[in-house]
Amino acid sequence: IFNTSLSEPPPPGYEDIEDVVPPYSAFSAQGTPEGDLMYVNYGRIEDFFKLEREMGINCSGKIVIARYGKIFRGNKVKNAKVAGAKGVILYSDPADSCAPGVNPYPDGWNLPEGGVQRGNVLNLNGAGDPLTPGYPAKEYAYRYDEAEATGLPNIPVHPIGYRDAEKLLNEMGGPAPPDDSWKGNLSVPYNIGPGFGGSFSERKVQMHIHSFNKVTRIYNVIGTLRGAIEPDRYVILGGHRDSWVFGGIDPQSGDAGVHEIVRSFGKLKRNGWRPRRTVIFASWDAEEFGLLGSTEWAEENVKLLQERAVAYINADSSVEGNYTLRVDCTPLMYSLVYNLTKEIPSPDEGFEGRSLYESWLKKNPWKDVPWINKLGSGNDFEVFFQRLGIASGRARYTKNWKVDKFSSYPVYHSVYETYEIVKRFYDPTFKNHQAVAQVRGGMVFELADSLVLPFDCRDYAEALKSYARVIYNMTQKYPTEVTAYGISLDPLLSAVTNFSEAAIDFHRRLQQLDTRNLLAVRSRNDQLMFLERAFIDPLGLPGTPFYRHIIFAPNRHNKYAGVSFPGIYDALFDIGSQADQRKAWEEVKRQVSIAAYTVQAAAGTLREPS
Ligand SMILES: *[C@@H]1O[C@H](CO)[C@@H](O)[C@H](O)[C@H]1NC(C)=O
Ligand SMILES: *[C@@H]1O[C@H](CO)[C@@H](O)[C@H](O)[C@H]1NC(C)=O
Ligand SMILES: *[C@@H]1O[C@H](CO)[C@@H](O)[C@H](O)[C@H]1NC(C)=O
Ligand SMILES: *[C@@H]1O[C@H](CO)[C@@H](O)[C@H](O)[C@H]1NC(C)=O
Ligand SMILES: *[C@@H]1O[C@H](CO)[C@@H](O)[C@H](O)[C@H]1NC(C)=O
Ligand SMILES: [Zn+2]
Repeated sequence: IFNTSLSEPPPPGYEDIEDVVPPYSAFSAQGTPEGDLMYVNYGRIEDFFKLEREMGINCSGKIVIARYGKIFRGNKVKNAKVAGAKGVILYSDPADSCAPGVNPYPDGWNLPEGGVQRGNVLNLNGAGDPLTPGYPAKEYAYRYDEAEATGLPNIPVHPIGYRDAEKLLNEMGGPAPPDDSWKGNLSVPYNIGPGFGGSFSERKVQMHIHSFNKVTRIYNVIGTLRGAIEPDRYVILGGHRDSWVFGGIDPQSGDAGVHEIVRSFGKLKRNGWRPRRTVIFASWDAEEFGLLGSTEWAEENVKLLQERAVAYINADSSVEGNYTLRVDCTPLMYSLVYNLTKEIPSPDEGFEGRSLYESWLKKNPWKDVPWINKLGSGNDFEVFFQRLGIASGRARYTKNWKVDKFSSYPVYHSVYETYEIVKRFYDPTFKNHQAVAQVRGGMVFELADSLVLPFDCRDYAEALKSYARVIYNMTQKYPTEVTAYGISLDPLLSAVTNFSEAAIDFHRRLQQLDTRNLLAVRSRNDQLMFLERAFIDPLGLPGTPFYRHIIFAPNRHNKYAGVSFPGIYDALFDIGSQADQRKAWEEVKRQVSIAAYTVQAAAGTLREPS
């Protein structure tokens, strides 16, 4: 069944599927490490702090077993390696991979006991192809040796399902878990180890990992609809096409929507229409292997993109639940997203005849608007937003985060992620898929066709104010050091105030814009387009040359999540336990000055050109 090609229907008899065949983790190191097992909870930085600092337990030379959930798996592997582990077993605990009261697939949408989550365990930090960081992997590209490659894990890693994990965890010896947050939902003690207890105390765990790395060709498929008036301005809709197994949710539930959006634009074009700006449709390859297709394409086209790209809209899975809309985007797009969702019918039961905005607001409110997330990473928008500063956004249907405690969706990246699970359990009439396609396609349409770009820089100003407050709060935890080392956020707060005034003034002038004056329109639009670019620092954030946005970055401890003012945030993270306090606070000062300068400089781009 694992030879099933994409053109064939999924095989009959799903109950017979055993999820035990590679590919498992992309890029895991080969090896046969043997040793005592240690349970490290989710493998987060705070889990290792707990073990090392509070419990005095050392992971050096051990094989660690971590449960999936909370953070990107590559961060778990990195933390384990830093802690000295020589191998990592990742497993799906029912607490994180099942919803209470739901049957395992095929009778429901929970992960069966034999289900395994694949996924890459790279720490590329935006580099793309590990052998060609920063440059497109053309035939003539210089390729580093594998030993010098970016982000490859240097210890073997292997994922298993909870039936197998239970057997290992049941025999663990050593101390009990520090508290209930370390317990999953298996009937095992969740002891830490190291090693097994009782009659198993002499036994070791041995891993046999025979994965291999290979240079191979990948294929992006690019379609272009040339703009009628501003062909040198690009709006990009991109989503990946590769999948771990059948990809029923990830990515095909999104890719199908991309095809529908392309078809809609094609229909308009056949009637003689062209968008004002050029629309580029991209079907990325090798997203699952580290965002490779999108990153390499952006590297190849970087000179055009930084001068011409207006926006990037990402299209991966359309559904990870059936509760409400989820949007992650630049603050520049908040207003566009709110306006658009007011025009799209809600697909939700009980909201007949009402807008998507209304059901979204009701189900996930924040103050008086629906909640929008910061962009992190783990998807193809990364290079466009975090490296190049191209305004980006993504949307999908999601679960009820207040109630549903499982991570992602239960069958994520397993062999059970089929078309059938979508059709039977997630979206039988595909109404949520349609709403998501309308949001994504509507954003592309408005960005490509509006005379004045639908970006509101005042929302960026408001966002910056709230992010500055988060940083202020972080420093408040260290009143003594703030005084002793002379830390002041005043320049940052001043820059944010200046940005806010510039944004309000820009907007005021925009209202008076003579829209018949095409040169003036183009000039304002360029200010809007280049605003996101103004937050890029060519030197990048410390240690991550491809994360260059000063306002946002993927969280260093969880690639999936976004962090605001990442330079300052990282400098303050765990600062209390840095050995050299003076040096650590000097870095905070340096990062505050970089952030203040960047915000002030960005404000300058909004002023009336003179
Ligand atoms: C976990 O176990 C508790 C107690 O047995 C149960 O109430 C809960 O529904 C279980 N959760 C899942 C996700 O199975
Ligand atoms: C779909 O919605 C129903 C009703 O809220 C819920 O019971 C069910 O769990 C949802 N299905 C999935 C796959 O989330
Ligand atoms: C959203 O709609 C309001 C009200 O019509 C309008 O003033 C605003 O300019 C719109 N926002 C964008 C980004 O187009
Ligand atoms: C800052 O801290 C205060 C007091 O703890 C809290 O009420 C507020 O919500 C925090 N603000 C932010 C932006 O984190
Ligand atoms: C903000 O603007 C004021 C007034 O122009 C200026 O004095 C101040 O230096 C600016 N702040 C920063 C951080 O540049
Ligand atoms: Zn995906």
